[in-house]
Amino acid sequence: MKVADNRHLVLVGMMGSGKSTIGRLLAQRLGRPLLDSDEMIEHREGRTVRDIFQSNGEPAFRAIETEALLECLASKELAVIAAAGGVVLGADNRAALRASGARVVWLTANISLLLERVKHGGHRPLLDNDPEGTLIAMRDSREALYREVADVVISVDGRSIADVVEAILR
Ligand code: S3P
Repeated sequence: MKVADNRHLVLVGMMGSGKSTIGRLLAQRLGRPLLDSDEMIEHREGRTVRDIFQSNGEPAFRAIETEALLECLASKELAVIAAAGGVVLGADNRAALRASGARVVWLTANISLLLERVKHGGHRPLLDNDPEGTLIAMRDSREALYREVADVVISVDGRSIADVVEAILR
């Protein structure tokens, strides 16, 4: 990817695939801001993702998530966007991703790596019970959706974070 590329760069993928970490490095390398949809939601709402799930339920969270995604995509400044794992669930979100002209990179990882990584971070209430079974079911139901929006698919398995960053910038 040329540094002069004039599109947003959006990272999508399952929880634990490394979107935020890799996004931070990419943003540094490209001299762009990192827009993280979960962080934007927490900032807008003044409460955590977990609180929103617990108090208002998943449908309410998804509606706020759509607003946050649209706000990220509407940014005038070219950005790196770490889009939370569930943004591909909504057909409108997928259409917005495609219509934005952004370069969408889908980070894939095997379940054992995802499981290891999701142990850290409390913003994933959907994984409170049976994280492995839940991740497998999510992957199976979401794979086609990630594929639908992705311009590029990059496996993070067995690669260092630096290596993944290089692969995305190539
Ligand atoms: C979710 C992913 C999480 C967070 C919420 C739901 C999902 O974000 O938005 O727990 O449904 O995949 P990350 O992908 O940043 O972990």
